[in-house]
Amino acid sequence: MSDSPAPLADPHLVFDPVAGDGPRDVVILGSTGSIGTQAIDLVVRNPDRFRVTGLSAAGGRVELLAEQARRLRVRTVAVAREDAVPALREALSTQYGPGEPLPEILAGADAATRLAASECHTVLNGITGSIGLAPTLAALEAGRTLALANKESLIVGGPLVKALAKPGQIIPVDSEHAALFQALASGTRADVRKLVVTASGGPFRGRTKEELANVAPADALAHPTWAMGPVITVNSATLVNKGLEVIEAHLLYDIPFARIEVVVHPQSYVHSMVEFTDGSTIAQATPPDMRGPIAIGLGWPERVPDAAPAFDWSKASSWEFFPLDNDAFPSVGLARHVGELAGTAPAVFNAANEECVDAFLKGALPFNGIMDTVTKVVEEHGTPSTGTSLTVADVLEAETWARARARELTKTQQTQQTAQTVQTTQTAQTNTAEARA
Ligand SMILES: NC(=O)c1ccc[n+]([C@@H]2O[C@H](COP(=O)([O-])OP(=O)(O)OC[C@H]3O[C@@H](n4cnc5c(N)ncnc54)[C@H](OP(=O)(O)O)[C@@H]3O)[C@@H](O)[C@H]2O)c1
Repeated sequence: MSDSPAPLADPHLVFDPVAGDGPRDVVILGSTGSIGTQAIDLVVRNPDRFRVTGLSAAGGRVELLAEQARRLRVRTVAVAREDAVPALREALSTQYGPGEPLPEILAGADAATRLAASECHTVLNGITGSIGLAPTLAALEAGRTLALANKESLIVGGPLVKALAKPGQIIPVDSEHAALFQALASGTRADVRKLVVTASGGPFRGRTKEELANVAPADALAHPTWAMGPVITVNSATLVNKGLEVIEAHLLYDIPFARIEVVVHPQSYVHSMVEFTDGSTIAQATPPDMRGPIAIGLGWPERVPDAAPAFDWSKASSWEFFPLDNDAFPSVGLARHVGELAGTAPAVFNAANEECVDAFLKGALPFNGIMDTVTKVVEEHGTPSTGTSLTVADVLEAETWARARARELTKTQQTQQTAQTVQTTQTAQTNTAEARA
């Protein structure tokens, strides 16, 4: 065994905040999203194992939230948007029968954070974006097991999360990290040679940078193997998601970046692998279905029977592996760079990317403009001075700057693009007029 301190996530360590044989009390943050709804499917099928006590969402889908609340009979419902409360109250009254007590409602920017600290065994953080940092820290501080799908909170606040988390308190839900978690259970830390993170390659696998110049948001949202929320889907198309996952793997398992490899595996059957020093590679494989990793997050160290479908080995299938094209997809290299820099650099990378994805989805930035802009923002940010003494204020300040700078650069690119289009149209009109003359 290695003498170094335990990493953030370790399958050999069990953190059990509440003793007892009954179902685990679970709080689901981001319950109306892709992770949240799949978690609810799992919980509903396993009432003897899990009981949901609280749900949180932004407030965009109050009917669904109210329906979930009634179905699960939760104690508390939280929404980030205060203006969503009247509609939520109405939706709850429609769902609940006369005389049935309605759940408590928490509202406001810190609603998910307050819910994350409430009485329960496990908090599943399925919120999208770095807004998930405060709830992550709150769950850890309150001593809950944290089933972590919201990778952004770890990436932007790595040292903060590390300072709070007890051994075994975090169980990764991202499929790659849940796969590494399970594979790492096969050996000791000292025996690990490298982590191999698989990537589907997204919808644009095999294309050159030039061929990516004019792809549309609808093309980027058509992921070949996974059905996910819009941000992570675009991040899968740029491979920013893989870059974030490399940083996440480094932070969770304390393995240097040089020993974390990325390999493209279009079928998304193998979710990641660990190579041990004796040359053995242990791979975790299932058909792509997030209910498998969610079940690891909610149920560990037990496995939840039939959490997700298994392979049918009576049918032929091909499993392919390719090296990553770093020219067409520079995001993984940039993510390694900001991960090595640490401090506020990962927060800047992530925040600039979130702004650029938003601009791309609105048609205000071309696909390649996402990484070009993020690279520029990261370069301008330079080498952060905070090192390991990162504070929440540092993260927020760096994010605010990165978002504003990304927006400025996006606007400039848009203006240049419009000017270019006008010039091209004028030249074409002049040429046509000359040809006619
Ligand atoms: N989907 C996957 O298969 C997958 C796989 C691996 C990792 N992940 C990670 O899991 C996280 C969630 O992804 P997703 O695909 O499930 O996203 P999603 O479908 O967009 O859902 C996001 C959820 O977060 C809620 N939310 C947004 N802002 C919030 C706030 N301020 N407070 C409370 N809730 C808020 C949304 O509520 P509204 O409905 O009200 O907007 C929604 O319930 C991301 O970090 C992603 O990277 C996802």
